[in-house]
Amino acid sequence: MKNAVETALNQQISKEFFSAYLYLSMAAFFERLSLGGFAHWMRLQYEEELTHAIKLYDFLVDNDGQVELQAIAKPPSEFGTPVEIMEAALDHEKEITASINALYETAAKENEYPTQIILQWFISEQAEEEKQVGDIVAQLKMVGGDGPALLLMDSQLAGRTLQAETDPAN
Ligand code: FEO
Repeated sequence: MKNAVETALNQQISKEFFSAYLYLSMAAFFERLSLGGFAHWMRLQYEEELTHAIKLYDFLVDNDGQVELQAIAKPPSEFGTPVEIMEAALDHEKEITASINALYETAAKENEYPTQIILQWFISEQAEEEKQVGDIVAQLKMVGGDGPALLLMDSQLAGRTLQAETDPAN
C-alpha cells in the first residue's frame, strides 16, 4: 500500500475514534439535560463510529497496511441547547465527509483501487449520517421552545436501534 494512503487511513481511524468520543460526551450532556432519548441516540452514534474505526483498521490489516494508532483529542464536555448540540454534530459530520472525500482523492491519485472501493461505502454512509442529523436539527428548529414537542421527539429517538444500520450486508 502506498505511504500517503496508509498515513491518511491511519489518520481517518483516529478521526472516527474522536467522533465516537465526541458523541459519547454529547450523550452524557443529554443525560444531564434529562433527555434520555437524545442520550440514547448519541450513544448509538458513539457505537456506530467505533464500527467505522474498526472497519478501516481491518481494511489496513487485510491489505498489508501498517496500523499506527494516533492520539485521540479530548472532546468538549459542555454543550449548549439541544439544537446547538445537534448542529455541532452536523458540522462535525461535514468535516468527516470532507476528510473522507480528500482520502478518496488521495487513493485515486495513487491508483489504490481497494481503498477506493472501501471508501465508496464511507461516502454513502456520510450522506446518510448528514441526512439523519440534518433532519433532527430541522425538527428541533420546528419544535423551538415547546417542551411537550421536545419530549415527544425525545421518546421517538429513544426507539433507535443499530441493527439495520450495522447489518454486515450494508
Ligand atoms: Fe464515521 Fe459519523 O462518520
